[in-house]
Amino acid sequence: MLEALDRLYEEARNALEAVADSEGLSAWYSRYLGRKGAVTQMVRRVGELSKEERPAFGRRANEVKAALEAAFQARSRAIKEAEIAREVEAGAIDVTLPGRPLPRGRLHPSTRILREIVAILTRMGFQVYRSRDVETDEYNFQLLNMPPHHPARDMWDTFYTTEPGVLLRTHTSPGQIHAMREYAPHPIRVILPGMCYRYEQITARSEIQFNQVEGLAVGRRITMTDLKGTLVEFARQLFGEDRPYRFRCSHFPFTEPSVEMDIQCILCGGEGCPVCKHTGWLEIMGAGMVHPVVLRNGGYDPDVYSGFAFGMGPERIAMLKYGINDIRYFWGNDLRFLEQF
Ligand code: DAH
Repeated sequence: MLEALDRLYEEARNALEAVADSEGLSAWYSRYLGRKGAVTQMVRRVGELSKEERPAFGRRANEVKAALEAAFQARSRAIKEAEIAREVEAGAIDVTLPGRPLPRGRLHPSTRILREIVAILTRMGFQVYRSRDVETDEYNFQLLNMPPHHPARDMWDTFYTTEPGVLLRTHTSPGQIHAMREYAPHPIRVILPGMCYRYEQITARSEIQFNQVEGLAVGRRITMTDLKGTLVEFARQLFGEDRPYRFRCSHFPFTEPSVEMDIQCILCGGEGCPVCKHTGWLEIMGAGMVHPVVLRNGGYDPDVYSGFAFGMGPERIAMLKYGINDIRYFWGNDLRFLEQF
């Protein structure tokens, strides 16, 4: 039996050498040292021996058990270490690899140009005044000197709602009336940025929604010179010091006199190209002195007060500034377009 014990010891040691991982380790342990393990079983058989043989067997059995326990602990440690080393190596970070580029969010070109325009005008002392997108016929047209059936209404193709007299504003100009009625008879200097809506065929040049920035100054002795000075300084800041500009006579029902402001074509420098329709000039806004009827509708006595107003389309300006040839890009949500800004 002593021999059998030694053979078993040999076998267990060899088997332990062959163990390569944690699962193998626990299998080995239950096979030899566990409660039903071979070594444990053999030690139990001590009773089968004669009295004389027992002490030697018992001593040897204890030695074998202790030796196998120690060998098991040593092997466990070695395997654990090897496993950790393997894991570390597998998950190792190569600090010399280039990082994964994180996609950077950016402002929509409309937001960018809006903020630029608003920044210039607020520096001049204009305050931002928010006005509603859903308007009444009264504010969008009548109070701006366009009674029902006035032919000038044809300038704006309108989205009407099912509610009579309620529509989506076709321009930011109705905000002028809201601002005046809130502040009259105090002086006003406000800008009204916001979305406008028109019932149009969507083409490269026209969209059914777009932003406008309206400006309004009302007070005593405000003149056309103030309007010109404001707009020229605005254009210098937005398009550069040396960009030539001009004012043309125009007509809007809510201003008298009315003008339109052009800047020299950015793309061809005035030579003439398809963007400026070979005129060398680009229209950037409409403007004028607030019509006496509009002043009165806003609560100001036109004999005492005067004012100027202007209105521009930021998307149109962004198109000129960045050379965008199709307004549909703005709401197309195509990342290839948006990521260029
Ligand atoms: N509301 C006009 C439009 O949508 C733009 C405009 C022109 C606004 C002249 C003004 C102005 O305030 O004075 O076409």
